[in-house]
This record gives sequence, structure tokens and C-alpha cells, in this order.
Amino acid sequence: MKIVVVGSLNMDLVVRMPKIPRPGETLLGGVFKTFPGGKGANQAVAAARLGARVTMIGCVGDDAFGREMRQTLSAEGIDTTHVLVHPESATGVALIQVDAKGQNSIAVASGANFELTAADVEKAMLSIGKFDVLVMPLETPLETIYTAAQIASAGGAKVLLNPAPAQVLEPDLLHLVDVLLPNEYEVGLMTGADLAAADIHQSAKQLLSLGVKDLIVTMGDQGALFFDGRTNTEMLIPACPVQAVDSTAAGDCFVGALAVGLCEGQTIAGAAAFASAASAISVTRAGAQPSLPSRAEVEKFICERKPSP
Ligand code: RIB
Repeated sequence: MKIVVVGSLNMDLVVRMPKIPRPGETLLGGVFKTFPGGKGANQAVAAARLGARVTMIGCVGDDAFGREMRQTLSAEGIDTTHVLVHPESATGVALIQVDAKGQNSIAVASGANFELTAADVEKAMLSIGKFDVLVMPLETPLETIYTAAQIASAGGAKVLLNPAPAQVLEPDLLHLVDVLLPNEYEVGLMTGADLAAADIHQSAKQLLSLGVKDLIVTMGDQGALFFDGRTNTEMLIPACPVQAVDSTAAGDCFVGALAVGLCEGQTIAGAAAFASAASAISVTRAGAQPSLPSRAEVEKFICERKPSP
């Protein structure tokens, strides 16, 4: 079971505050920490901790954050041969504020993540050979993402796209996607809908009509909606109620876990239930990568929540 992630690596600079300041407001009382993050790296770590063999394709700067990010992934058993080092750009950085309810706001300076070219990805994927699932967020150039999807699809691998941050994508790319994984805001933004007026069902229908095969909309503590493109049916995957500490990387955890479930031959609904349990655990812990659970933790969590016969 082999997963390739094409995506971002960021160092997360996090301030925990009672509330997130409004524009123009200064608030004291924060606690500062750094955590390895970046949606791509988080998804890679989530899948590796749940038992997959993972190769990461990405780009960092020739700096201390970049070295730390590569070391952290290697320590998780992730193949970092194709995490390139750009000589002039800085490693990606995310400035994150987390409030007392565990909600966050994130500002990203992408830096080296946007130096990953289509040619880099093509070279890396040719040398990696066969794999089962390709996982990608949208924090690297679109051309790179499109090339990776084409190669993976031609080689018979499943393509999982997490459209975060959201944007309207060309049908050429959506046609290559097996499972699209936006959250409840991103699904509307992808169809160009006004955020306030966006209807999840309407947006989902539109995306499926553009060629996406299956769609899972994650909705935090409301669970996830799975739209099956083949049968035109939908199913609610319930959330597992937990005490939220920090929602950072909960979506990434869901994506990585879903990839593992699909690699293991689970149905999409089964893999989504597994992913929902994994991401619930991640919400109970601070930070991006430190919050991602091991396989044993997820299995124990599922077992403890099974109704007794
Ligand atoms: O999804 C969470 C991630 O988004 C953070 O780790 C941050 O780096 C940004 O990429």
C-alpha cells in the first residue's frame, strides 16, 4: 500500500489566544509555539502514522525550517528523496492564531512551495514507479498538480484532491479526480458561489457534473457528506463528538486517513468513517503534525465508541 503526496511543507508559527483579534486590534495574553505543518506534509504524516508507505514530493528552502521539516518527515518513515531544496526561496511559513474554542485563522507565505515545477513532479513520479493513491492539497502551483494527476491517473492510481485553499478549477483537472475532499466553505467557493449563499448540495451537484467521480464534504463537528457520483446518492458520515482543543490539520488528518482506508480496499463510506474517527482525535490536541494519531489510537477510539451488543 503506497501513497504519494504532492504538496506543501510549512513551519507553523502558532499563537494561542482567548480570541482571534479583529483587524486593527492588538490583544495580549497569547502563548507561542512552532509546529511542523503544511497541508501536504500533514496529510503525508497522517497516512504514515496510520500504516501507509508514503513518499512526499515538495520543495523547501535552504534554511533551518526546511532542514527541520525534512528531518521530521524522515523520522516518520516518509521517503523525502523528492522533497527538493530551493536555493533562493524561504521554506513556507504559516502564521496561525487559535482561539479558546480551537478555531483558527491561517496566513501562509508559500515561499519554496511555489517553486515546485511540473517538470520536478514528472521526474520524481517516474522514478517512484507504481503506487496506489495520489494525495494533493492546493498549496503548490496548479500546473504541478495537473501534471501529477495526469501521471497518477494514467498509471492506474486513485487521485484524491483536497481543494484547500479553494479555487475554481478547470474541468480538465476535475475529470482526473477520483475523490474530491473540500470542506463546507470550499465546496461553494469552487463553484464560484457567494460564500453566504452557497448551498452544499447545489455546489456538490455542479462539481459532480464537471467530472468528479466522488465527493466528500467535511463539515467539522457536523460530520461529512459523501456524494456518490455513480449512483447519485448521498450519505452522512457522522462526526465523533470530542472536546475541541485545536482544529488545525483536522481536515488534513481526514484526507490522509481516507487515502489509507482506500488503499486497504475499504469502501469510500467505510474509509470516511475511519477518517472521521482519526480527525476527531486530532482535534483534541494542539498543533498540526503533533495532533495526528497513530493506527493503534484510532482503532482504540473506534472500539471504545462501538455500541456494546
Ligand atoms: O491545514 C493546516 C495547515 O494549513 C497548517 O499546518 C498550515 O501550514 C497550512 O498549510
